[in-house]
Amino acid sequence: MIQTLEWTEQGVRFLDQTKLPTQEIYLTCKTYEQVADAIRTMIVRGAPAIGVAAAMGIALGVRASKAETVGELKRDLDRICEVIGRTRPTAVNLFWAIQRMKEKFEGLQIRSLAHIQGELIGEAQRMHAEDIAANQAMGRHGAGLMPSSGGVLTHCNAGALATAGYGTALGVIRAAVAQGKKIHVYADETRPFLQGARLTAWELMKDGIPTTVISDNMAGAMMKQGKIAAIVVGADRIAANGDVANKIGTYSVAVLAQENHLPFYVAAPLSTVDLACPDGSQIPIEQRNPEEVSHIAGKQMVPDGVAVENPAFDVTPSKYVAAIITERGIARPPYAQSLRQFAGAEANLEV
Ligand code: MRU
Repeated sequence: MIQTLEWTEQGVRFLDQTKLPTQEIYLTCKTYEQVADAIRTMIVRGAPAIGVAAAMGIALGVRASKAETVGELKRDLDRICEVIGRTRPTAVNLFWAIQRMKEKFEGLQIRSLAHIQGELIGEAQRMHAEDIAANQAMGRHGAGLMPSSGGVLTHCNAGALATAGYGTALGVIRAAVAQGKKIHVYADETRPFLQGARLTAWELMKDGIPTTVISDNMAGAMMKQGKIAAIVVGADRIAANGDVANKIGTYSVAVLAQENHLPFYVAAPLSTVDLACPDGSQIPIEQRNPEEVSHIAGKQMVPDGVAVENPAFDVTPSKYVAAIITERGIARPPYAQSLRQFAGAEANLEV
């Protein structure tokens, strides 16, 4: 099984995703600042993985605190959360994880420093296990939506590498394949960071799931030629009305799916649903270094002095989304109601 990230006594161990697919290198972050850097530089990426990494980073920072009172530890916790919260703005799982760690701190009855530190480490590890369980549940719910045979297109990487394990969109595909469905995955390469070409293809190849990488601008032609039966992607933040922020290019895929009468599905845990955000226009979109676009493998592709944009995400309006697969079931339009119902339901997951 792919170990995207894990808690160890020495620190948080990550599979360095910037080195894939040619090198499988693990590194251990021993401080919360190093964890923040790992999130910022995309050593770890993907909304659920960012959330779990943030929780583990907070646990690491609190464990190393020199505080002598609970009040001092609380001040340290706030500072750690602020540093980690400044890494990447779009995936709401980051802020969900920070909030959950703060609430854990506040809710503790016995408040010796060692007790708090131990409990926060435990909470981060629980979030890791819960994320895998949520992905497996999404797989169980979503597998039925996948065709019994045919092509399934995905964009970016919403797999084991983007989560604590198993994946959201790729979890649904994995579960469908485990049921005997003959799925061939079409992976958009996902310019400019190439999560599809480097990461999705790598992890599906490891699982023996047939995969073809296409450049992003081929998706429409593949749909038109009848090679695609359905689309499934992940999400970084889902607004209360069902608008979906996901990797840049997702919106184009959704529009193309509608034009070609193909179902466009989103798979995401409820930690990705932001009920405080009314619609997609309110979702902050991360702008990354333009060099990720202007240069390919270190080689300049754009003339000096020409403007380059690099928004890391876009928003797909909910009208294009046929269903949102969550760990508590499949949400259908109108999402303002179905998402609220799922998010309010009692957790019922086995860890
Ligand atoms: O910039 P990234 O690689 O962190 O973006 C990741 C995505 O857009 C994924 O599709 C999303 O986080 C869902 S991951 C289960």
